[in-house]
Amino acid sequence: MALANAIQSHRTTLLTSHSFNKATIMYICLCKGITESAVREAVHQGADRMRDLRICLGISKQCGQCACDIKQILDQTRLQKKQV
Ligand code: FES
Repeated sequence: MALANAIQSHRTTLLTSHSFNKATIMYICLCKGITESAVREAVHQGADRMRDLRICLGISKQCGQCACDIKQILDQTRLQKKQV
């Protein structure tokens, strides 16, 4: 329970930070140590579904608390890919 609370607190801090810049490393899956940029890169490389990300990065296989945030990143990145 303490780990889940710590993960949620960290995630809230990261997602509500207004000082985010490109040099910031934002961990999105703390259990696996996966960053937001790694998720975006995997989507650009062809991972178009959560299942693809689960297979290639191992995200959301433990506590699963990152799933909603990763889905948002997936959707945003897919939209950005379509606009290019
Ligand atoms: S944060 Fe626990 S599985 Fe991603």
